Amino acid sequence: MGVSLGKVERFQERRFGMFVHWGAYALAARGEWVRNREQLTDEHYQRYVDHFDPDLYDPAAWVAQAEAAGMRYGVITAKHHDGFCLWDTPDTGYRAGRDLIGPFLDALRDRGLGAGLYYSLIDWHHPQFPIDGLHPLRANPSAGRDIAVYRDYLHRQVRDLLTRYGRIDQLFLDFSYVGHVHEGEVVWGGKGAADWGSPELLAMIRELQPEILVNDRLDIPGDVVTPEQYQPSGPITVDGRPVLWEACQTLNGSWGYDRENRDFKSVGMLVRMLVDTVSKDGNLLLNVGPNARGEIDPASAGILRGIGRWMRLHQRSIHGAGPSAYTPPPDCRYTQRGDRLYLHLFAWPFDSVHLSGLAGRLEYCQFLHDGSEIRHEITDPDRPAYATRPAGQQPGTVTLELPVRPPDVEVPVIEIFLRP
Ligand code: GLC
Repeated sequence: MGVSLGKVERFQERRFGMFVHWGAYALAARGEWVRNREQLTDEHYQRYVDHFDPDLYDPAAWVAQAEAAGMRYGVITAKHHDGFCLWDTPDTGYRAGRDLIGPFLDALRDRGLGAGLYYSLIDWHHPQFPIDGLHPLRANPSAGRDIAVYRDYLHRQVRDLLTRYGRIDQLFLDFSYVGHVHEGEVVWGGKGAADWGSPELLAMIRELQPEILVNDRLDIPGDVVTPEQYQPSGPITVDGRPVLWEACQTLNGSWGYDRENRDFKSVGMLVRMLVDTVSKDGNLLLNVGPNARGEIDPASAGILRGIGRWMRLHQRSIHGAGPSAYTPPPDCRYTQRGDRLYLHLFAWPFDSVHLSGLAGRLEYCQFLHDGSEIRHEITDPDRPAYATRPAGQQPGTVTLELPVRPPDVEVPVIEIFLRP
């Protein structure tokens, strides 16, 4: 993947980021694909553009919520598929009345967080973007649209974004769909590398921002593989080699604000997704969809606070941590950071847990949330089970003694100090 270590280490040190999907669709409040799903005309959608006025927008408050949740970088949508731009781009009037992107990036940097951008390759508003099976006007496709004109516009906008805001750590381009299946049907007129001019675009991006990480949706290889709304079964590899990856996940299934959608994931589930991701050497980019006034809705804010309560006590098992060579017990995950091994218990095993391969390696261990000692023993493998005493474990196994009741944290974690 040819990227210098610095940016990879920074990315992997951070592990957890905030994805922000925001734009004119927040007014419709039915998710960011509302124009596609309801096949809305430009005229209909224009009401959301005309009334877009986020008077309560306070990027420092969003970033403070992200940081308190344990997030160490942010990625915001500069333009989504609807073509509406959140910065004062000189290339179209289809934009917010003022630059909403710069203040968010500044707020991230003010707190030492990484700064990233999302930019949609798809544009349902641009008059030269050829209509295809995903386009809102797909029922009455007008011919004679010139992708080359749109491509120039796309390259100009990306150049502008990567020139005016200083160093950008990450660029999430979205998405290519040649031969793509959407709602059970192959999308006609799907677009990819030739349509976007991907090789030239990527070369320009690298020239403007040598320290940037670009995702994998240009229809040519990027730096970061981006699984979406699922958890990979293990570390992701390409041609047998491990690659950088970042799972992007929603709080309720929708990226954009979706007022009636109450399908929120629990704090516990999201913490387990974060741990699972890091245990498989990935990053988690967790999304919020602020509303049209410019605020993160109370339910989403509450979930971020809940994750933050766990991260305040456990962040060192996430930031700068990664996979371990040891095999965890059932219903558990390991993350490791140097000589510290973190056992995350997704299900409470009650009484004891057996760690294979750690005999002689484990120097000391404690609950991470309160620093209290966890006693352990190496049992004689031939010891028979008798009354309250369990049978001996496989050679090389260390048995940890646990309390009957789990500690009152979303995911209990035991910090293991390994011998050098
Ligand atoms: C998909 C969705 C898009 C969203 C993106 C985030 O491409 O279509 O709306 O922005 O995923 O990963």
